[in-house]
Amino acid sequence: MPRHVRIVEVGPRDGLQNEKAMVSTADKIELIDRLSATGLQSIEATSFVSPRWVPQLADATEVFTGITRRPGVHYPVLVPNEKGYERAREAGVEEIAVFTAASEAFNQRNINASIDESLQRFAPVLERARGDGVRVRGYVSTVLGCPYQGEVPLADVVRVARQLHGMGCYEISLGDTIGVGTPGKARAMLQAVAGEVPLNALAVHFHDTYGQALANLLACLEVGVSVVDASVAGTGGCPYATGASGNVATEDVVYMLHGLGIETGVDLARLADTGRWLAGRLGRETGSRVGRALAVS
Ligand code: HMG
Ligand code: MG
Repeated sequence: MPRHVRIVEVGPRDGLQNEKAMVSTADKIELIDRLSATGLQSIEATSFVSPRWVPQLADATEVFTGITRRPGVHYPVLVPNEKGYERAREAGVEEIAVFTAASEAFNQRNINASIDESLQRFAPVLERARGDGVRVRGYVSTVLGCPYQGEVPLADVVRVARQLHGMGCYEISLGDTIGVGTPGKARAMLQAVAGEVPLNALAVHFHDTYGQALANLLACLEVGVSVVDASVAGTGGCPYATGASGNVATEDVVYMLHGLGIETGVDLARLADTGRWLAGRLGRETGSRVGRALAVS
């Protein structure tokens, strides 16, 4: 098991992109600023995708230019194509994430492209990023199952992860988009990818639809992964993945890691407070079990 885990907080992006009711730009900015005060080192701030495809994040520029950027904290954003890259750069973005999937059916619905087409779209983005000194993360979705295709062969996950890494992504986040995975499958998937991409360039991204996310995460920590995506208050889901629900809650991840003696640098009480604040803004109870427990203790 790793001694230290870096958490990539995806709440402001994955957490909010699926919210039906519009969250105000001011609340998005406050969320990110509260998160950066908890000790999190990486906070995915928003997406420069088509506002027609994800209306909730149409205010990406206003959000990104409105936050107070803390030294030492990274604020990656999702970018699907060159147009997104240009918008992101104009807003002052210094780290991006490109995203594709191991399943053709999902990719088509999510970004209107085949896997190969998406990689072709990313090529000029990665080239410009290299020239601009912008770090690029890569996502592979549907690594443990697809809502449209069903089973996803491991070989497809490995191939797409290897290609993104080969194109210059410094880190590949492996996404169980619809949260169908179980620990044995998660471990086997990570081991298969780690056969082709160095383990220290891999991250895991679990949605908790079937309540398996923490168990999957533990299985992957035992393999040695040390970067974990999570979303405050357990928010999240992809609007183009039928049945997807929230990400594993950051509070629950931090509680488990600290219990295992693994450092995160995150102040759990402050984080749980932020999760309850966000839940209040969204008009519901926090999706984090730890957040709820700490509220009454
Ligand atoms: P398209 O309709 O095929 O794009 O969408 P297009 O290139 O044909 O352009 C159509 C129009 O969109 C044009 O405008 C473009 O200018 C505009 P028009 O001329 O018609 O007025 N456009 C843009 N506008 C602003 N920013 C842009 C942009 N690009 C085009 N970047 C596209 C293709 C990729 C754009 C679209 O499908 C899209 O934005 N998809 C994003 C979907 C999304 O955000 N999904 C959720 C994130 S992925 C996820 O959640 C999974 C993850 O969490 C990991 C996991 O859980 O597995 C990461
Ligand atoms: Mg996700």
